[in-house]
Amino acid sequence: MREPITIERHILEQQQRGFPKATGDFTQLLYDITFATKIISREVNKAGLVEILGATAKENVQGETVQKLDEYANDVIRQTMDKTGRVSVMASEEVEDVILVPQNYQTGRYVLLFDPLDGSSNIDANVSIGSIFSIHRKISEDGSGQREDCLQPGYRQVGAAYVIYGSSTMLVYTTGNGVHGFTLDPSVGEFLLSHRNIRIPKSGSIYSVNEGNYTHWEQGAQRFVDYLKSKDNHLGKPFSLRYIGSMVADLHRTLLYGGIFFYPRDQKDPDKPVGKLRLLYEASPMAFIFKHAGGYASDGEQDILTIHPSELHQRTPLIIGSKNDVKLAEEFFNGNRD
Ligand code: AHG
Ligand code: MN
Ligand code: MN
Repeated sequence: MREPITIERHILEQQQRGFPKATGDFTQLLYDITFATKIISREVNKAGLVEILGATAKENVQGETVQKLDEYANDVIRQTMDKTGRVSVMASEEVEDVILVPQNYQTGRYVLLFDPLDGSSNIDANVSIGSIFSIHRKISEDGSGQREDCLQPGYRQVGAAYVIYGSSTMLVYTTGNGVHGFTLDPSVGEFLLSHRNIRIPKSGSIYSVNEGNYTHWEQGAQRFVDYLKSKDNHLGKPFSLRYIGSMVADLHRTLLYGGIFFYPRDQKDPDKPVGKLRLLYEASPMAFIFKHAGGYASDGEQDILTIHPSELHQRTPLIIGSKNDVKLAEEFFNGNRD
């Protein structure tokens, strides 16, 4: 039998190797995240049994219908983190303003940004969904954290993770020293190392996009997809198309098999000309993970990790995946190739 390596042990060893003088707060923060996602995973797995499927009567700050499990996952993460003394401030896709540490509780040195449930419109059909986390250091001077702590460019992240609630529950994380995948063993309630040092292939043969929006795209995106589908492309055969509609699930496949996922800018909604995905809770943490697995993420013009956010719920076009494929996409998106 292969020696089982729990996520707790893995995080501790990473920390000891990289930062032998660390206080342990960061290690514990990562462990708190794994705890919250185990609770969410349990609820997702029995969702059909406990009347938690379906929508609430609310819309979130993005104007989207809030599913019951969105709300549940948001509460679990907030309540797991906000009294530990390890975070100074948090921000969630489901909450309009920053989430502060409750009065009379200690604030910590870290900033946590999260998408509590990604792909939530798929929940009722039993399609894979996920959670995404981005961790920064606090940069503001005074005691409690503030908005500016949340509005940092992605390259300053000290850690990022996603969890996929699929045919099994998996957690993938990086602290800048490789990307590691763990599978939840429900019989013992532990995440065990299953994917050591994940590296994304340099190029792939799968593309992933909501092509139903083709007519709303700019010409660069349209030409790029035409190219991928042509037998005269660099593969000499059309790329395969896979699109689940849950970003975590689409990106998990992309990380393991290679290829490219994109959600381009479109003209469908004049109020949202920049694309759908959110920089802080979706694009930036995923870009950090892909970078440390050898991949790349761009908004079409620049590395996602270099964007300085100005708003908590800022959206961005996103092109992410195998490095060569994303670089090629940038050429099309910039009009340097047709
Ligand atoms: P969320 O459920 O957190 O709001 O995110 C949904 C996102 C993402 O998971 C997915 O890639 C995208 O929405 C799908 O959008 P379309 O339905 O427009 O393709
Ligand atoms: Mn999402
Ligand atoms: Mn979400």
